Amino acid sequence: MLRLAKDLDSATRYRLLIGSVVPRPVAWVSTLGNAGVLNLAPFSYFMGVGGDPPHLAVSANAHRGGEKDTLRNIEETGEFVVNIADEELLDAMVLTSGDHAYGVDEFALAGLTPAPCAIVRPPRVREAPIAMECRLAQVVRLGAAPRWTAVIFGEVLAWHFEDGILTDEGLPDMGLLRPVARMIGDEYLLTRERRIVPRPKIEKGPPVV
Ligand SMILES: Cc1cc2nc3c(=O)[nH]c(=O)nc-3n(C[C@H](O)[C@H](O)[C@H](O)COP(=O)(O)O)c2cc1C
Repeated sequence: MLRLAKDLDSATRYRLLIGSVVPRPVAWVSTLGNAGVLNLAPFSYFMGVGGDPPHLAVSANAHRGGEKDTLRNIEETGEFVVNIADEELLDAMVLTSGDHAYGVDEFALAGLTPAPCAIVRPPRVREAPIAMECRLAQVVRLGAAPRWTAVIFGEVLAWHFEDGILTDEGLPDMGLLRPVARMIGDEYLLTRERRIVPRPKIEKGPPVV
């Protein structure tokens, strides 16, 4: 069955995209506005981009034609933290997605602890197994009012890992991390079943002259 984007209404186009790009990791973004307003919200339009320097991208859709609090704070300060939620934090993470007024502190709302970062001013979520301190690199706006999207690119300046979460090689242990991902609507994935599939090893022949 073929669906042409141009024949669909705006809401259907959006729902088809989030139902097709699955499962999505969730960036649980903490920010601090210039006036000291603390904010925390989840974003599943999220990916790592680039290896070195390490960057990631999070995208915030327009909300009632204006900016979401996260985007506003990031544009004000140029800093944010991407926290990663595990199974225990799933409910708290979803709780922080409510359409709260700008001044509402979602850390307090969800019973979470703001912990200081090493470089950036916004706090991280102490309970999160991973937190990445980011400096804004660029915001790219796509689309037009009232349904635009801002893609926020950030450079990762520092990682915080929960004690015991790293393997002997110094990498996150997926069995201990137990990350969650978003599927469609209110459906989430618990990443309990995993497989090791080695990549093919291609023998390099003699250089072609
Ligand atoms: C798991 C999850 C993922 C979400 N992903 C996004 C996203 O990628 N982009 C977006 O604009 N909103 C997303 N939302 C909705 C925002 O979290 C919601 O609009 C929130 O109120 C934004 O908060 P803020 O205004 O404090 O920035 C998501 C919600 C949930 C529950």
